[in-house]
Amino acid sequence: MRLNNKVAIITGAANGIGYAAAERFIEEGAVVFIADYDNDAGNAVAQHLGEKATFIQVDVANRESVKQLVATVIEQVGCIDILVNNAGITRDAMLTKMTEDQFQQVLDVNLTGVFHCTQEVIPHMVAAKSGKIINTSSVSGVYGNVGQTNYAATKAAIVGMTKTWAKELGRKGINVNAVAPGFTETDMVKKMPENILAQMRSIVPLQRLGTPRDIANAYLFLASDEASYVHGHTLHVDGAIMM
Ligand code: CAA
Ligand code: NAI
Repeated sequence: MRLNNKVAIITGAANGIGYAAAERFIEEGAVVFIADYDNDAGNAVAQHLGEKATFIQVDVANRESVKQLVATVIEQVGCIDILVNNAGITRDAMLTKMTEDQFQQVLDVNLTGVFHCTQEVIPHMVAAKSGKIINTSSVSGVYGNVGQTNYAATKAAIVGMTKTWAKELGRKGINVNAVAPGFTETDMVKKMPENILAQMRSIVPLQRLGTPRDIANAYLFLASDEASYVHGHTLHVDGAIMM
């Protein structure tokens, strides 16, 4: 039990990688709050995962909604040990065609959402003199990706925020790290044109996409005491796609 009785908030945990993380954290003894705006999926997965899972509907892009999330968790269990900033969206388009809305929506969720959640959770971790923040970057943020001006910008920014928070929060006993997944089998990649996805798969030395559990295992490692001296790091979990 690597997370025995630890309290974790995982954003975007109603689907995909976040859901796999909720499942994995519960297997290791954690109490998990599934923070997602997808009400139907959120309720369904919380029911499936059992008494250690609670769904709270949230829009990470909305400060008031995040405040409410954190207040509810504190009211129910009194502390927050782990925050996984996993919620994310894509609005892919070539630069020449990308609309202001497509650009802004992705910034609001993938970047401002991470800022909101971390800023609201941090006072509770500072008071406890401990905590783990895990952010989600991407292969697209590290290397760039055709059609993802908005998304790549946010995922590169995550690396900078992670390092900054490591410098600000380390002395408060808080560990901050990120995971940069490669192309992973979730609804997010299902929206990609099949030929482009096939091309991406073919350049992965492991010759397969990641599974949500591959990424969840990296979150688990960074959330556990085993990673207590890993700090400000972005762990690439991508089958070495760009090596
Ligand atoms: N590499 C090189 N060239 C590419 C390319 C690629 N990956 N993708 C598109 N192109 C080229 C096309 O061949 C085309 O070239 P020509 O003009 O010479 O014909 C040109 O770019 C325009 O492409 P489209 O005709 O497809 O343009 P479109 O406007 O219809 O669609 C798009 C553009 C929406 C970006 C579409 O190509 C697309 O969805 N691409 C996939 C983007 C992608 O990889 N998204 C990742 C989603 S998963 C995720 O985000 C998770 C993560 O973190 C990795
Ligand atoms: P997904 O689309 O399967 O799940 C994303 C979840 O986030 C959904 O449950 C959705 O409802 C939730 N969400 C979206 N906007 C929200 C908001 N405003 N507030 C609260 N919840 C919101 O996506 P996936 O693939 O599981 O992605 C998880 C994270 O991993 C994202 O940050 C994504 O950018 C990142 N990532 C994914 C990769 C992939 O190939 N699937 C690769 C690299 C990074």
